[in-house]
Amino acid sequence: MIYMKIIGINTSPREGSNVRIALENALEASKAKGAETEIFDINKMNITACQGDNYCKSHEGKCAVDDDMQKIYKAIEEADGVILATPVYFFDVNAQAKLFIDRLYSYFQFPFVETYGTKKFAMIVSQGMEDPELFKGTLNKQVEAFGFLGFDVQGLTVVPDNNIPGAIKDKENQLAQVKAVGEKIVE
Ligand SMILES: Cc1cc2nc3c(=O)[nH]c(=O)nc-3n(C[C@H](O)[C@H](O)[C@H](O)COP(=O)(O)O)c2cc1C
Repeated sequence: MIYMKIIGINTSPREGSNVRIALENALEASKAKGAETEIFDINKMNITACQGDNYCKSHEGKCAVDDDMQKIYKAIEEADGVILATPVYFFDVNAQAKLFIDRLYSYFQFPFVETYGTKKFAMIVSQGMEDPELFKGTLNKQVEAFGFLGFDVQGLTVVPDNNIPGAIKDKENQLAQVKAVGEKIVE
């Protein structure tokens, strides 16, 4: 079995989060295939917005902002794969997810892949509306950012109709979908 490390980024702030449950299930599937896993709960961490100072552009992809994102940069650099899990807030990823994505600007115009290797990326999204296709145009734009940075993008998985906290727990089909994400990322 090949050793791999997969990190999960949970951007939902709420108790009983469907996003977190989905992410836990995905990572359990990765673990079952032998991977080491770790979850970062963005909303509980001190992570500020990208300051756009371009410090990273003259400091080998390092960000000047000394906050908890530094822990996540280190984890990404050491990982083989990243699963970003976010709720839909107003037709898009939530603000916590966007904070995280914007801070990855430090890897833009930096030889990220050459320095840290190719990392796989998958995104899991939970939403209230029933139609999983509704926001895919916007959500796939966020996924594209990871391809642009050099991640090996595995895809987007949307689990719909999850307004009630913990609703996903009773949905075998959705749990199977997110487990498949966790399995694919370690293949
Ligand atoms: C501020 C806010 C905005 C939301 N906007 C949308 C939306 O545009 N479309 C949608 O389908 N659901 C929307 N929702 C519902 C959440 O996406 C849904 O409840 C999701 O499953 C929450 O994930 P969680 O259980 O992990 O927190 C919104 C919820 C909140 C709190």
